[in-house]
Amino acid sequence: QGPATVTPTGAPTGAPPEAMAQQGEYLTTAQGARLRTTDHALKAGRRGPVLLQDHHLREKITHFDHERIPERVVHARGTGAHGVFVANGRAAKICRAAFLKKGVETPTFVRFSTVQGFRGSSDTVRDTRGFATKFYTSEGNYDLVGNNIPVFFIQEGIKFPDIVHAVKPEPDREIPQAQSAHDTFWDFVSLHTEAQAHVAWSMSDRAVPLSYRMMEGFGVHTFRLINDAGETSLVKFHWKPRQGVHSQVWEETQLTAGNDPDFHRRDLYDAIDAGAYPVWDLGVQVMPDTDDETFEGIDLLDPTKFVPEELCPVEIIGTMTLNRRPINFFAEVEQVMFNPGNLVPGIDVTNDPLLQVRLFSYIDTQITRLGGPNFNQLPINRAHCPVNDMFRDGFHQHAVHGGVAPYRPNSLDGGNPAEASEDSGAFIDVPHPVAPGAKVRELSASFDDHFSQATLFVRSLSEVEREHLTRAYTFELGKCYEEAIRLRQLQCLANIDADLCAEVARGLGLPAPEPTVPPADVEPSPALSQVGGTWPI
Ligand code: HEM
Repeated sequence: QGPATVTPTGAPTGAPPEAMAQQGEYLTTAQGARLRTTDHALKAGRRGPVLLQDHHLREKITHFDHERIPERVVHARGTGAHGVFVANGRAAKICRAAFLKKGVETPTFVRFSTVQGFRGSSDTVRDTRGFATKFYTSEGNYDLVGNNIPVFFIQEGIKFPDIVHAVKPEPDREIPQAQSAHDTFWDFVSLHTEAQAHVAWSMSDRAVPLSYRMMEGFGVHTFRLINDAGETSLVKFHWKPRQGVHSQVWEETQLTAGNDPDFHRRDLYDAIDAGAYPVWDLGVQVMPDTDDETFEGIDLLDPTKFVPEELCPVEIIGTMTLNRRPINFFAEVEQVMFNPGNLVPGIDVTNDPLLQVRLFSYIDTQITRLGGPNFNQLPINRAHCPVNDMFRDGFHQHAVHGGVAPYRPNSLDGGNPAEASEDSGAFIDVPHPVAPGAKVRELSASFDDHFSQATLFVRSLSEVEREHLTRAYTFELGKCYEEAIRLRQLQCLANIDADLCAEVARGLGLPAPEPTVPPADVEPSPALSQVGGTWPI
């Protein structure tokens, strides 16, 4: 026998009742001593001062004083639910992951979120939405940490602090609290023009979803899959809601934010309570793993670019149903952690320069947010398969680790744990070649196209969606105080679509500039329109 890893008592949240804390018949102290009262402190006489020796009072107040943990640095406002994913087996030909084999059922936990607002902000603001899924697979936890918009603001992760500083409330007056449209926002996106495709989505109806149940989800980055024969392919992940894709109109968002800031949260939980479980199909766009990692001229490593479904259809590989809401919001929704680096055999990352930085950022932030390196032991984060990681100690260590030799090989604990081979389910990094050459900070020239995908998106909208888009640009840009910034953004709009630019300029009472880049030669993608799309409305 090797060193036994004794996991903390309890089981994954929502599972056996013995995992639930605080179930005894009597009220007790944290040490288990029964209490006669918790309403009155020990005093020196009925009208006297409170005594320091009241150990129960001190324990109770001290615990309360430390109840809050830091909110997420982004995506602070969110809500979550448990579910189950059932694979249809169609991915087996391209991916060796066990959870994608036909008929395999995998428990999941999903957290939906806004990006910019604080933990207590309104649900129905104009913003990108997070759509993060944890699959508790038999080969370890796999996290698909996506958004409801398939492109991202920036191409390189090193700029992430900058875009977030620009999007969050401005540091002097700490406004706006819940809108992504103000001077620093427009300043950033008009100077870092790679953001323009994401901004077009943000000004569209996609950024004001009717319900979390009615949003698409996108993995955004390209991932590399590997099958049993060692063949690789490049894929983009999509979640397709069976409920259809629906949005609010702007006036509705104002009413719902005022009347019920918890609108999306309530909607999700009411639906689950009523047995109207929301369902999403998981799909992949599968593209050949070519040396240049491009598809139809689109650089698959550039996270500001998506691949239209008309060029590469989405193949459905399984279905997820959300059927259980959390028992305790803090233990589940607040303490859950996601990490794009939580991968299972068969799924690997690419060199997308945004994804590469995400691989570093999530664990790092969670060490602060969740108070040390042992957050994987929290019930919501535990793998549903044996864990034997040889990690030891640290803040909030709950496991009682056996054995004396947490290293390997060792000659004291019987040499365990054993290393797995590819045949016994080891995660193998796909041996993809690294481009030869000197160390550089620049990107390849294909990343220089900053406008064509915004043009593609704008031209794919129906008339009514286009009208909403124009109104949103005009309204949100109208909140920007600096005229120079508004003019610079109008220049970007001129490069995206001259008519859109003219309409927004008219609304702002400003001149419409001439484009500075040739008009993009792109075909509209009907699948991008909520009205004209291929998915049920
Ligand atoms: C949350 C960093 C890009 C989706 C977070 C958090 C950080 C972060 C620090 C908070 C995590 C926590 O406290 O648990 C970054 C960095 C990025 C990046 C450095 C770029 C380099 C993206 C992209 C997407 C995304 C491209 C979508 C594809 C999310 C989601 C969450 C999140 C959905 C919320 C997860 C949850 O619900 O707990 N990100 N992010 N992020 N990020 Fe990113």
